[in-house]
Amino acid sequence: MEALLQSIEKKVRPLIGQGNVADYIPALAEVDPNQFGIAIYSNDGTLYQAGQADTEFSIQSISKVFSLTLAIKHYGESMWQRVGREPSGNPFNSLVQLEYEAGVPRNPFINAGALVVSDMNQSRFASPHYAMREFIRRLADNPHIQSDKVVSDSEYEFRARNASMAYLMKAFGNFDNDVEDVLHSYFDNCAVRMNCIDLAKAFSFLANKGFSQHSNEQILSPRETTQINGLLATSGLYDEAGNFAYRVGLPGKSGVGGGIIAIVPNQFSVCVWSPELNKSGNSLAGMAALEALSESIGWSVF
Ligand code: DON
Repeated sequence: MEALLQSIEKKVRPLIGQGNVADYIPALAEVDPNQFGIAIYSNDGTLYQAGQADTEFSIQSISKVFSLTLAIKHYGESMWQRVGREPSGNPFNSLVQLEYEAGVPRNPFINAGALVVSDMNQSRFASPHYAMREFIRRLADNPHIQSDKVVSDSEYEFRARNASMAYLMKAFGNFDNDVEDVLHSYFDNCAVRMNCIDLAKAFSFLANKGFSQHSNEQILSPRETTQINGLLATSGLYDEAGNFAYRVGLPGKSGVGGGIIAIVPNQFSVCVWSPELNKSGNSLAGMAALEALSESIGWSVF
């Protein structure tokens, strides 16, 4: 497997230079674009890696999967009254559907949906970001995971779009807490720094019927696990979820830090990272690496 990962790294590294690092969050624009890492964690506990798999990066929207997991554990089915389960077909930070769909976001992985989920977690925890950070540390088996204050402050400073979504949802009665407080929690979660190994380990429960081997905990029921994987397959890559299904064929989630996680149900959890993004905000070399990997091993679930 490691020889395959190395050959894939060699194949996709030349793509670096064809995308752009996210610059709408100024602190993210400073990352060195010439980086690539990949890690695979198998359900039997074996780790495979290549490239800069132990270099930390900003997990950004990948954090939305952790927030959703925490919310589902507490609210169960009732949470779906406040957020939908359909692909949006729009960019991750789009506002248009919110107005004519009465402040109910299409799914938990676009920004508006993640803000509603953060609002739910805000109601439940005294210190929502610390609850989330502890949860992530347990899942990744790494007590050193931290949020990057420079990134979260930069996100807060340039919060106008996310704040607009949250206030619009508040106007429709779909937001319970103070908007600015929830924005802080949401940005602190997006600004968490992890490496590919941390992320592959942290999401192993989604490949393992909801069970995390490191924390020795049933995080979600097997049924809830298949449900989250279904949502990741249909909405995890925003308006590129169809293309990801076509090219890779796995449940997945991307972030504008250049990370993508993918789940091979009942077998592996994967994380790939390369900071340059394509036009939809997904890692350009990361997508190509997952496509090559999935094609070589025959991983597509479809
Ligand atoms: O709120 C934002 O725009 C960022 N903190 C997260 C966006 C993101 O990662 C979307 N991913 N592709």
